[in-house]
Amino acid sequence: MPGRRSGLWVFGIAVVMVLNIAAVAHAQPTQQPAAPIWTFPDIGTLPDTPAGRLIRRGRDLVTATSMHVGPRVADRAKRFAGNNLACINCHLEAGTKKFGIPLYGIFDDFPQYSARSGHDSSIEDRLNSCMTRSMNGRAMPDDAPEMQALVAYVKFLSTGVPAGYRVPGLGTGKMTELDRAADPERGRPIYARSCVACHNTDGSGIVRAVNTDLGYMIPPLWGDDSFNTGAGMNRLITIANFLHFNMPHGADYLDPRLSDDEAWDVAAYVVSQPRPVKADLGKDFPDLLDKPVDASYGPYADGFSEQQHKYGPFAPIRAAIAKLKKEKGAASSVAPRP
Ligand code: HEC
Ligand code: HEC
Repeated sequence: MPGRRSGLWVFGIAVVMVLNIAAVAHAQPTQQPAAPIWTFPDIGTLPDTPAGRLIRRGRDLVTATSMHVGPRVADRAKRFAGNNLACINCHLEAGTKKFGIPLYGIFDDFPQYSARSGHDSSIEDRLNSCMTRSMNGRAMPDDAPEMQALVAYVKFLSTGVPAGYRVPGLGTGKMTELDRAADPERGRPIYARSCVACHNTDGSGIVRAVNTDLGYMIPPLWGDDSFNTGAGMNRLITIANFLHFNMPHGADYLDPRLSDDEAWDVAAYVVSQPRPVKADLGKDFPDLLDKPVDASYGPYADGFSEQQHKYGPFAPIRAAIAKLKKEKGAASSVAPRP
């Protein structure tokens, strides 16, 4: 099995190389700025000025979130996060790991239209969306010093990335989808084999032994102190790809440890577990045709069940949505509403 797998890898790399050579051979001179490679700036080179200190504080907020804005900090006004996770638990290596949901190179993507809210979303809105869902907390005001520090850090990470350039390696990566539903029962033994040693039998993770205010050594995956039902990590496509390219700890996109099937099924096992419920999720995605196929909460425009939206298969849902969009487009061009 390992032999076959590495054989496939070598084959894959060979294909990629051939494609690259072909791409170079056909490359046209363009006006595009030279594509930056994966070179995020080094925080240690910042001067000890107010601006440099603000960025460093932003990084501290990403790596030790619960120390600064967690549910147990002394100053109640600063208790923005509702759980003891840290941004770095999901934005790996403080937002600098390829396909580990990087925060590198994204600053100029904002403001950006958000299908979830139905209007443009600023970088502050985007951070707050993780604060209220992934961190199960409440929104930070735009002028809160913690918000300003986080924004300064995200901006700093985009230093030198030309506006409009989409760095390859953002998000969670994209493996092939299953043509069956992902199955929590098939995921259970995979969890027992590959995850339990770190994340615990009950998914509750491991807190730091010396100073529990420092949050988790290993973050929880479900239960009261985890992300809520409205979080991106609670969507099957997002978490399955995240797991494929990042878990067990130490895996990366060059060296995935879970097969595609294993990643989908163990992801299904994690999303089948209980977690805090976000109120008012029905208000998300005012245009239901823009709702992601793997949003696990209704309402939906496509007639598929909550179960199928949660576990797949997604191709039939996509086809139904494409058809509805086409009909909607045709209807509005024939009979425009006044
Ligand atoms: C439980 C996991 C989790 C935690 C904790 C978390 N996030 Fe996120 N974050 C996500 C996911 C999932 C996405 C969406 C990724 C995608 O669309 O591919 C995201 C997206 C983002 C984005 C937009 C990224 C982009 O590519 O446009 C920003 C900015 C962000 N998070 C900031 C934060 C900050 C700051 C914190 C801590 C206060 C935080 N997040 C905590 C999971 C998390
Ligand atoms: C060797 C320990 C280890 C193993 C094994 C491991 N993880 Fe993790 N996991 C971590 C650590 C540590 C983090 C926090 C991110 C980091 O520091 O890289 C994490 C983060 C995560 C996250 C995002 C944060 C959160 O709280 O949701 C998910 C989801 C996750 N792991 C799921 C899994 C699954 C599923 C498996 C089994 C396939 C697994 N992990 C195996 C250590 C581990």
